[in-house]
Amino acid sequence: MNKNRLIRTLLIVIIGVSIGAFTTLYQISQEGKKSGSGSLVATKNFGGAFELINHLGEKVTDKDFEDQHRLIYFGFTYCPAICPTELQKISMVLNDLPEEISSQINPIFISVDPERDTVETIKNYISLFHPRMIGLTGTPEQVKQAADAYKVYYAKVQDETMQEYTVDHSSFIYFMTPGNTLQALFKIDDSTETIKTAILNYFGK
Ligand code: NI
Repeated sequence: MNKNRLIRTLLIVIIGVSIGAFTTLYQISQEGKKSGSGSLVATKNFGGAFELINHLGEKVTDKDFEDQHRLIYFGFTYCPAICPTELQKISMVLNDLPEEISSQINPIFISVDPERDTVETIKNYISLFHPRMIGLTGTPEQVKQAADAYKVYYAKVQDETMQEYTVDHSSFIYFMTPGNTLQALFKIDDSTETIKTAILNYFGK
């Protein structure tokens, strides 16, 4: 009886924290809208410490990326629709941008499904999208830490009618610039053109 109550309380706390994180991110994206600069938000020192494993099986931390230009997406390889579409968008943006700009931007895919997304699975998956894409996964704890750092909501969803579980997750493309600055946040309805224009603006083109 007591145990059930504890679990329920914990669940409520977890849901509360998730909604809080999501709200903050939503506010950031709305700020960008209000400022009239598309999705440009320029939030410095965004994203905290994390440690993950890349698609080559090497240990990486936030320090390895903090001074890079990056397009980051959190998702999972079993995702049927949204993830592939958003990763395809990142790929198209990089292919469309002038080489001197696109070569400065690292596309990064971070898994929110560490159970199924092994190093090998991630490696095969990212190769479908862009030759320079970096794939990151880790233990459930490591993934949680990285997702929290980027205020990503994700939750495993399963009911009796499903053979395999799915992962419910927030979907944002983060345009990160040196100094761990969140330069822009793109949502599902932002087109390839919108993302490309924002990046060109940032580079003063
Ligand atoms: Ni997805």
